[in-house]
Amino acid sequence: MGFTVAIDGPAAAGKGTISRAVAAHFGFAHLDTGLIYRAVGKRVLDGEEPLDVARSLSAEDLDALGLRTPQVAQAASRVAVEADVREALVDFQRAFAMRDGGAVLDGRDIGTVICPEAPAKLFVTASPEVRAVRRHKELLETGHDAGYDSVLADVRARDERDRTRATAPLKPADDAVTIDTSHMSIDEAVAAAIAVVTKARG
Ligand code: CDP
Repeated sequence: MGFTVAIDGPAAAGKGTISRAVAAHFGFAHLDTGLIYRAVGKRVLDGEEPLDVARSLSAEDLDALGLRTPQVAQAASRVAVEADVREALVDFQRAFAMRDGGAVLDGRDIGTVICPEAPAKLFVTASPEVRAVRRHKELLETGHDAGYDSVLADVRARDERDRTRATAPLKPADDAVTIDTSHMSIDEAVAAAIAVVTKARG
């Protein structure tokens, strides 16, 4: 039986960096479930129906170029409100979580809906301003020239939509350990996450 690590949290909180580092440390596979919603959002921006896309999504869609833009992030959070779209994406995520050899999944509802039985659950967060600074830097580094104010507005809008939706809203699982990375370096945040997983493995 595999060991599942569930990592949830708001936009640009550092889930990706922490998840990759935790997966590398323990030799687990990693799935960024945000990419799934971004891939659906992107095809919807291109004119397709959300549910049709969710039902026909393939692994190649996750490799599509241009998934990391703020426009696609907003489209992702709009399709992510739809219960039937989320439902269509559950099996793929659960199968990944159960794979032999262990898995780290990061997203919004991994600890609450996708893998409520996961033995290690983290909720990674930081203040909206800190998250916007990090995302702004990331976007500039990848050639997207979005201003800080618009990045902060994007982060806030998505958090609001993700937290208040009826289906699988963003919130920590009751037994999740929260890591607030606002005043942590990447190394400190990764070390904190590894410590939680190490303890959960017993
Ligand atoms: O990278 P960032 O944290 O900004 O966002 P992401 O993890 O790529 O997720 C993009 C959007 O997909 C989120 O704002 C959510 O609306 C949605 N999402 C979700 O609803 N459930 C998940 N498990 C993962 C993402």
